[in-house]
Amino acid sequence: MTKPYIFITRKLPDEVVDPFREQLDISMWDSEEVAVDPERLLKEAKHADGLLTMLSDSIDGDVLRQASNLKVVANLAVGFDNIDIEAAKKHSITVTNTPDVLTETTADLTFGLLMATARRMMEAASFVKEGKWEHWSPLLMAGSDIHHKTIGIVGMGRIGEAVAKRARGFNMNVLYHNRTRKQEVEDRLSVEYVNFDSLISKADFVVSLVPLTEETEKLFNEEIFNRMKREAIFINVSRGKVMDEKALYQAITTGEIRGAGLDVFQEEPISETHPLLSLKEVVCLPHIGSASRETRYNMMKLSLDNVLNVLQGSNPLTPVN
Ligand code: DGY
Repeated sequence: MTKPYIFITRKLPDEVVDPFREQLDISMWDSEEVAVDPERLLKEAKHADGLLTMLSDSIDGDVLRQASNLKVVANLAVGFDNIDIEAAKKHSITVTNTPDVLTETTADLTFGLLMATARRMMEAASFVKEGKWEHWSPLLMAGSDIHHKTIGIVGMGRIGEAVAKRARGFNMNVLYHNRTRKQEVEDRLSVEYVNFDSLISKADFVVSLVPLTEETEKLFNEEIFNRMKREAIFINVSRGKVMDEKALYQAITTGEIRGAGLDVFQEEPISETHPLLSLKEVVCLPHIGSASRETRYNMMKLSLDNVLNVLQGSNPLTPVN
C-alpha cells in the first residue's frame, strides 16, 4: 500500500521526523531558517495529502483551491491567521494547530519581556557591554516596578491564564478583558474582568494576547494608546497586525505611554530601519514566544501526530476547524 505523502515547509530535525516515516512518505523544504519558496509550496500543495506549515507560510484560498488531494494542514503554532480557514472548510481540509504544549513557555516569554521592558534590562546590558558603565548612580537605568502594579491582559485564553498566574506571583493586581467572562478563572486566580476601555485606562502593563481576526486588526491604535496611562507599558506577544506600529511609535515618542515590549510585528522579519527599533524604550524580539527547544520539539511532534491521525482516518488531536 502506498503511504500518504506529506510536505513539511521547513527542515525539521530528523530525530522528530524519522519515526513518522514508517507510515508517511515525507518531504521537507531543505532549510531550517529560510521560508519555503511560494512556488514550491504551491507545487507541493497540489499533490500532497498533508502539509505541515509554519506561521510564516501563507496558506490562502488560492493555494487551498488548487490542493486537490490535500486533507490536512497542520500549523506549527497556536495562531492560524496565516491559513484561510473558510476556504479549508469549503474544500473539506482539516486544519490543526499546537495549543497547550506551548502555553507555559509562551507565558514565560511574555512575563520575561514585560520585566525586561519595565526594568530596562536590554538597554542596561548593552550599556555594560559597550563599556559605558563608569559610575554607579542612584537613578542609573532606573525603570518601573512590576510588583503591586496593575496588569491588564487582553485575551484570556490559556496563555492569558498562565500569564495571570505569574503576575499574581508578583503580587500584581490582574485585570482582564475577553470576549467571554470566565468566572471560574476569576475565582481560581483572583483576577478581575473589566471592559476594554476600563482595562486600557487602568493598567500599568497592557498585554495583548488576542488572536488576529477582523475584529482585532489594529485594535491597539492611536486612540487606544492615548487613553493608556502615561507610564503604561504595552506588551505584544500575539500578532503584529493587532497594533498600529506608527501610532505606537508616536505614542512613545510623545510620552503618551512609557514603552513597549514586542515579540511580533506587522511585517516579519521587521526591517532594521524600522523607527520602532531606534527607541530605547522598546524591547524587540524575533517572534520567539514558544521558542524553547523542549516546546518546539513538542509542537513538531504534535503537528506530525495530527497529520498522521487525519490521514489514518482518526480525529486530529488539536483541530481548529
Ligand atoms: C504561536 O504559536 O502562534 C506563537 O506566536 C509562536 O511563538
